[in-house]
Amino acid sequence: MQPMTPAYVLAGIFLAVALYCGIDPFHHSPLYGFPDFIPHVIDVPDWSQVPDVKDAQNQLQKSEIKFLNQVQGPESVTFDPLGRGPYAGVADGRILFWDGESWKDFAYTSSNRSELCNWKPNPASYLKNEHICGRPLGLRFYKKTGDMYIADAYFGLMKVGPEGGLATLLTNEADGVPIGFANDLDIDDEGNVYFSDTSTKYQRRNFIQLVFSGDPTGRLLKYDPVTKETTVLVSGMQFPNGVSLSKDGSFLVFTEGPIGRVRKHWLKGEKAGTTELFAILPGHPDNLRTNEKGEFWVAIHCRRNMYVYLMSRYPMFRKFMLKLPIPASYQYKTYIGGRFHAMVVKYSPEGELLQILEDDQGKVVRAVSEVDEHDGKLWMGSVLMPFIAVYDLASST
Ligand SMILES: *[C@@H]1O[C@H](CO)[C@@H](O)[C@H](O)[C@H]1NC(C)=O
Repeated sequence: MQPMTPAYVLAGIFLAVALYCGIDPFHHSPLYGFPDFIPHVIDVPDWSQVPDVKDAQNQLQKSEIKFLNQVQGPESVTFDPLGRGPYAGVADGRILFWDGESWKDFAYTSSNRSELCNWKPNPASYLKNEHICGRPLGLRFYKKTGDMYIADAYFGLMKVGPEGGLATLLTNEADGVPIGFANDLDIDDEGNVYFSDTSTKYQRRNFIQLVFSGDPTGRLLKYDPVTKETTVLVSGMQFPNGVSLSKDGSFLVFTEGPIGRVRKHWLKGEKAGTTELFAILPGHPDNLRTNEKGEFWVAIHCRRNMYVYLMSRYPMFRKFMLKLPIPASYQYKTYIGGRFHAMVVKYSPEGELLQILEDDQGKVVRAVSEVDEHDGKLWMGSVLMPFIAVYDLASST
């Protein structure tokens, strides 16, 4: 008999690990159940093009955490035309209204709510029933009518009157293709709604596979309230997300998450209908919002890192990593840099970076999906957090 030498033991361990990884007996790989997963190249900019800016004082750590455990996963936060609110779309599918004393149910998007939508301990645990309970993401009021417009990730573009209740569907398709993942919206003076369809292939509850595939089926859409038709303005995008009109309405800007940039789409003037680069961001964005001055606040989901850079440029490397029996949540955590990092960045209407505020250890604010400037304060919602963070602009240096 051969003695058990260290070399044999090592070879045995190696073989066992290789077999385990190859077979994935417990279906831990994020690709399990996604046989048609295709990893696409994500054309992230070279490091030399990425702005090298930092908030050395981590000013966001001075934010106040409000409504802890009263609002779960408030991606979008908004105020009505009378300045009341905030209103917040939460993980269980409701839109809540802060009346100054307590949170009240304001509206909902699903006509089929049931006990499946009841309270759960953390925002992520609602994911699997979102297609039943609804998931309101982008929220905006149309000042002329007081109606609230809602981008529901599952149902499409919806609207509810100033008194709230069950929202009605405006559109769930464009150019004959169903909207797969409505995400954010804005409304012009004539009532046209501009909104993003993040992917026609993956729903929000599979956002991890969506992010990792770099799926290029995202679209920027326009809903015309007169003809009730929805047209495609820009297609073939990877995870288009936040949408915001410029103050004068001559253009809109929208974010693209995996690439980490903002593009500008002209609506008026001689460049109408064309799209151009607005800014390359220091990280991967979510929503963006215009302030009174016409500047844009962009919420950054996470800073760029070398791992994401390589995974983006080399899709086969990405597929190899994802085939390993490492659960999606761990892979995602590594992707965003291993820890939370809150960042918001302000741009001029011309695309010049004006201000950056961070909490780079994720100590207080942790993560941001949207930032709304209102009465001299920044109201920050996050799809991952059970609170709204409020930062007083008067306290920045
Ligand atoms: C309504 O909800 C139930 C679960 O509560 C689900 O099984 C059913 O498919 C839903 N119906 C529709 C039309 O979404």
